[in-house]
Amino acid sequence: MAALRGIDLGVRDGEFFTLVGPSGCGKTTTLRCIAGLETPDAGAIRFGDTDVSDVPPEARGVGVVFQHYALFPTMTVRENVAYGLRFDPPDGSVDERVAAMLDLVDLAGMGDRDPDELSGGQRQRVALARALAPAPDVLLLDEPLSSLDARLRDRLRLELKRVQRELGVTTVYVTHDQAEALAVSDRLAVVHDGRIAQVGEPEAVYDGPETRFVAEFLGENNCLDGRAVGGETEGSLVRAGETEFAVTGDHRGPVTLCVRPESLDVNASHNQFDARVRDVEFLGDGYRVHFEWNGRDVVARLDDAPTGSVTLGFDPADAVVLER
Ligand SMILES: Nc1ncnc2c1ncn2[C@@H]1O[C@H](COP(=O)(O)OP(=O)(O)OP(=O)(O)O)[C@@H](O)[C@H]1O
Ligand SMILES: [Mg+2]
Repeated sequence: MAALRGIDLGVRDGEFFTLVGPSGCGKTTTLRCIAGLETPDAGAIRFGDTDVSDVPPEARGVGVVFQHYALFPTMTVRENVAYGLRFDPPDGSVDERVAAMLDLVDLAGMGDRDPDELSGGQRQRVALARALAPAPDVLLLDEPLSSLDARLRDRLRLELKRVQRELGVTTVYVTHDQAEALAVSDRLAVVHDGRIAQVGEPEAVYDGPETRFVAEFLGENNCLDGRAVGGETEGSLVRAGETEFAVTGDHRGPVTLCVRPESLDVNASHNQFDARVRDVEFLGDGYRVHFEWNGRDVVARLDDAPTGSVTLGFDPADAVVLER
């Protein structure tokens, strides 16, 4: 079975580009093809105008960081970073380069430590320093933060972004975590079943998903199948069962209506429907409320915790209508 079925991607010079998708969708395989660790059956990999398809991994000018810190346990931090320079020694001294890299990832003074004397986050920063030491043209990161706890992950992703911006190194980042992808990327590609489902800037893809998969994978969404009928002077109506919802734009035929949890409101003046509270989760800055409506689950982000039955609604302009 093919792991990838037609990946056509262009990553721009200096950008932070993310491949995001569920487990097994082909993210790591794509990254390994870019690194030269895997050979695609068809197609080409180009860096700039150069076809690198036949260039071996060590000559491609890529730095790679994997999920599980593959530091050499018997080498010190400094030796680990210097190892990154074995194919490509710098013009100046190796010691200076290593020190500069450790400084960059905020580990100055840690050079003499062994990897087992470091925290998980520090080890990943050593792995990053090692990958960056030879000044690669392309940095490839495969879930480098996923084995860390949530707070450290949030901090390190900011740091990663800072280092990337400082160096201006073209970066392809792999994650299954959609929130992480939205937070760090200049642009992202949603990968689904070995294919690219959609590419764009995080806000553009979040606000304008082109398929139901993207609508539901990137952030939360309430998706409802219905039929769009004309009738409104501006916009259209989507009929689902007994209910009609007003939406903007001209739509006809079978559609999927998508409304984000944060677009649902108890004070909305449009598209009202009565829903029954099923579960309430406190999130600190508000509530995620699970409702039952016509035998379906509906999720809303609300400032206050409701009880019993409430009237929800949404602005027609906030709904995304996808043709089926
Ligand atoms: N060496 C291999 N030989 C054959 N099939 C493979 C190989 N490695 C991965 N696959 C298959 O290719 C598909 C894509 O795998 P890949 O590792 O790229 O997914 P992924 O998106 O990185 O997933 P995860 O989020 O779990 O890391 C999967 O169906 C997987 O079973
Ligand atoms: Mg993977």
